Amino acid sequence: MVAILGFNKDQITAAVQDMYAAVAASPVQYFHFPVGRSAASAVGYPDDWLDRLPEQTVASFAGVGYPFRAEVIRPGDTVLDVGCGAGCDALIASQLVGADGKVWALDITPDMVAKLRETLKAEGIHNVEVIEADAERIPLPDNSVDVVTSNGALNLVPDKRKAFAELFRVLKPDGRVQIADIVIARPVPLGGKSDPELWAECVVGAAIDEDCLEQFREAGFTDVEVLNEHDYFDHSPSADTKRIAGMLGARTMELRMLRPAEAHAPAYLARLARRLDPRRLSRVTDRGLWGVVAALAAVIACYGTLAVVGLLSLLGLGLALDEGLWALTIAGGAVLAMLATGVNLRRHGQGWPLALAVLGAGIIVYVMFVQYNQLAEIVGFVILLSAVGLDVYAVYRAECVPKRGERQAVSRSSEAAHQAGE
Ligand SMILES: C[S@@+](CC[C@H](N)C(=O)[O-])C[C@H]1O[C@@H](n2cnc3c(N)ncnc32)[C@H](O)[C@@H]1O
Repeated sequence: MVAILGFNKDQITAAVQDMYAAVAASPVQYFHFPVGRSAASAVGYPDDWLDRLPEQTVASFAGVGYPFRAEVIRPGDTVLDVGCGAGCDALIASQLVGADGKVWALDITPDMVAKLRETLKAEGIHNVEVIEADAERIPLPDNSVDVVTSNGALNLVPDKRKAFAELFRVLKPDGRVQIADIVIARPVPLGGKSDPELWAECVVGAAIDEDCLEQFREAGFTDVEVLNEHDYFDHSPSADTKRIAGMLGARTMELRMLRPAEAHAPAYLARLARRLDPRRLSRVTDRGLWGVVAALAAVIACYGTLAVVGLLSLLGLGLALDEGLWALTIAGGAVLAMLATGVNLRRHGQGWPLALAVLGAGIIVYVMFVQYNQLAEIVGFVILLSAVGLDVYAVYRAECVPKRGERQAVSRSSEAAHQAGE
């Protein structure tokens, strides 16, 4: 259950490092995402910029957009490239800032860091320094960089709020940000985020577009502007990745924003207040979670009320409980959970969750209104909770996990096409 409910940061970091070690070492092999010069051209890098970069650097390009569209880097700036990979953007930034400027190139994958260090040595580039570190803990002092640039890395970071707060911390007042990254239009169904491979392919780790912009504002950034959006996954050689990206509405956003001159990072309570936005309830619908909410409400109405009544009576306080209303609330929650499971049927086409929900809710209604039996009541709740759990899992399987054998089959055929140079 833990595996389908969330993600494990260590597994995701390991999957990201494996994936990008391969992009560093042998970029010509097959990947589910576009890599190399054609990928850079497709997202908007002008040929004359690419011509000025070392071939091995461009070959390992794995960015998702063209952050330089923001045009925020000036001669003499100190720039931080977060998730620099083989270093295309760091090397472009090094030319933009010139000899008086400096570029910090940060990445979590040791092989990418090693590749960029070799390039810098071979090319005699002195204004770029490489840091092997996590974007969630940037080893640079406060107020130390003029510009943050990032391309395709932040969607891979498990704790985005922490990373955004780090970007804010290291930027000087009036600092500027240019970012190209993946966002999604719909939430990843529950459990989808626990697939480290899909995460490393820049799909399921991405934030929802509006959330992503809101999280930057929450971190203290202002003037958050979307400069361009495009369908990055359209260039993916994998039909499997395209299908999942299409279902989630995944695409690239190119952003520009500012770290204001006077402001400090907002206080925790201010950030929390922004998060409690009622519009976020739509996630419950998108993830197909109404069944879980209703079933839990029924359980709480039943045993929570019992606990409160018991506690009050221990304290010597009697509570007059309208048993009819109480039973109606419990049965109502159970029936709503059953109906929500029925609504999800069109999303996954599996009859089992609904059949179980009808059984569980039926037992609960029976014990509430026909003949009470405590054991039957518990059995009813166990069946209902299993039904809503299976239902959410079925939504996840249908909308996020590649169909059985599809990933392998698609990988093989796409790989063959790739090798044949198609
Ligand atoms: C999609 S690649 C893009 C690389 C590079 N920006 C480019 O345009 O070619 C993402 C990069 O982010 C790095 N990365 C992923 N998670 C990171 C993290 N938590 N901290 C720092 N770098 C990270 C990966 O190692 C990888 O090199």
